[in-house]
Amino acid sequence: MEIIITPDPAAASHLAARRIARLIREKPDAVLGLATGSTPVTLYKELIRMHREGGLDFSRVSTFNLDEYLGLAPDHAASYHRFMEENFFQGVNIPRGNIRLPDGLAKDVPAHCADYEQEIRDAGGIDLQVLGIGSDGHIGFNEHGSSLASRTRIKTLTERTREDNARFFDKLEDVPHHVITMGIGTIMESRSVVLLAFGAGKADAVAGAAEGPITASNPASILQMHPDAKFYLDEPSAGALERAEYYKWVFKNKPAWQADQ
Ligand code: F6R
Repeated sequence: MEIIITPDPAAASHLAARRIARLIREKPDAVLGLATGSTPVTLYKELIRMHREGGLDFSRVSTFNLDEYLGLAPDHAASYHRFMEENFFQGVNIPRGNIRLPDGLAKDVPAHCADYEQEIRDAGGIDLQVLGIGSDGHIGFNEHGSSLASRTRIKTLTERTREDNARFFDKLEDVPHHVITMGIGTIMESRSVVLLAFGAGKADAVAGAAEGPITASNPASILQMHPDAKFYLDEPSAGALERAEYYKWVFKNKPAWQADQ
């Protein structure tokens, strides 16, 4: 696990975008796992800029999103389909047929989840998974107590997560209780992980994930077991890390060949 502490979300997003761009240049048919929420918006803007101004080509890239609310149609204003369309897909040249998100209107949810897992396998697995983190440590919508080996399935949101996400809806009562989310086991199989976290509200979750025990009470803590997980943080989200100075020293003193990896 590498902890990269940057001055602000723009700097963190820029570094994460460079990491993704390097992957796409090395492997033009890369499979990306994508997240929604406020956190990756600047990352997506930066990737769109790299596409428009730097010719970063997504024409062979495939994507799988982490999650979707159950009961929301793709064109619902708060659906993750709509979010991805507006914040990323309409700005880059990923072929429509290469884009996958869980279907919030799936009739047979377990069968849909099994198909989603199969589609990920058929695509050769996820090369790089983008993650945000909930203020309670969730990744995807794997709330506390989620099995650390879980696969794509239905989950019930905690009230804290519903309240955190109510800003995307007209009112709290409109936030669905149920979601489909990739499992923690699914996320752990991606070949690399880029987790972004911004703001003091994420500080305890980040510290627990990076320096606490591995526990289903902070699902992101399982990333300590991932061979290639990087956390891109701003100063406030790094505020509760005990070893922040060490992480900064490590990043500043990387051998040249390791920079940008
Ligand atoms: C979104 C997702 C969630 C969010 C997390 C943080 O697809 O899977 O885990 O990353 O809830 O959300 P924001 O970025 O809005 O603070």
